[in-house]
Amino acid sequence: MGVTEELLAAQAEGLAAIEQAADLAALAAVRVAYLGKKGTLTAVLRGLGGLSAEERPAVGKVANEVRAALEAALAKRHEALSSAALEARLASEAVDVTLPGRAHPIGSRHLISRITAQVVEIFLGLGYRVAEGPEVELDYYNFTALNTPPDHPARSLADTFYVRDLSGDEAAVSGESDVLLRTQTSPVQVRTMEREKPPIYVLSPGRVYRRDIADPSHLPQFTQIEGLVVDEGITFADLKGTLDHFVHRMFGPDRKTRFRPHFFPFTEPSAEVDVSCGICDGAGCRFCKNSGWLEILGCGMVDPNVFGHVGIDSERYTGFAFGMGVERIAALKYNVPDLRMLVEGDMRFLRQF
Ligand code: DAH
Repeated sequence: MGVTEELLAAQAEGLAAIEQAADLAALAAVRVAYLGKKGTLTAVLRGLGGLSAEERPAVGKVANEVRAALEAALAKRHEALSSAALEARLASEAVDVTLPGRAHPIGSRHLISRITAQVVEIFLGLGYRVAEGPEVELDYYNFTALNTPPDHPARSLADTFYVRDLSGDEAAVSGESDVLLRTQTSPVQVRTMEREKPPIYVLSPGRVYRRDIADPSHLPQFTQIEGLVVDEGITFADLKGTLDHFVHRMFGPDRKTRFRPHFFPFTEPSAEVDVSCGICDGAGCRFCKNSGWLEILGCGMVDPNVFGHVGIDSERYTGFAFGMGVERIAALKYNVPDLRMLVEGDMRFLRQF
């Protein structure tokens, strides 16, 4: 093979190698292999020395053309590979602004808090204030000052959580402690009347505790809202009007109320209030146990004995009080079949809806 043929063969091989170089590093290796000091083309050119003076210019020309062709191909391939590398980098570093973000679930207030707030709202609109009292309460406020006789069953260990004094106080340890978890929000009535002079219009939401086993209609810890009004000339008609208004705001204007005589130690007369069943509209169904009515609260006119404990003149002032269970109201309003569902941490009660 003559030198010209060798040069042309080296060019063909070199061009193929350039075309096949997959990345910039491979391309640099091809350059060294053909145009480097020990490269193929260099070796062929070294052989030019052995040519005759007539042959040399023609072969030299071919050699220059081969070098130029390889240089041009290297440059072109370099550009192609560089822009491909750039594109790859841009693609890998790209931020896709159209990707949906990570959603943080938004919670909402629990049904118990919402119902409590709704009831409070209704009574704030009637000019009531919110008054609160302690959950760990004295027997005096929870029972005695509320005209509850010493032998009343609610006081028994089977119904009330007594707080034991671990200091070793004999009476406390034996269960006859005078400190307990309040069984009702009614003691806030007494604390309020001790502190304030009539006119009194207060609402007291809060947690209460009873030694009940949790079942569909009982929880050992639940929420009550107490109302108390003391003023001159307050009558049972005021109580009825107030609770009618409350029921219409809470359950809807079409619902009816019914007052049934009842007994509470701290009110006389006392009543339980029913609201007409929202499912059957009073006709009778499973939800209302075929009675057409659902019990929602207890109420009555403040017993003069209670006024006696707090030094309010029962000749001048009269008052009414009422107490309702928030879980029960929530269950009635939203058809929750089992009160335990409200406290089991079921996320559906907290999801936004
Ligand atoms: N404290 C009563 C209970 O837990 C509810 C109640 C009834 C409260 C009548 C009152 C009332 O203020 O007048 O069952």
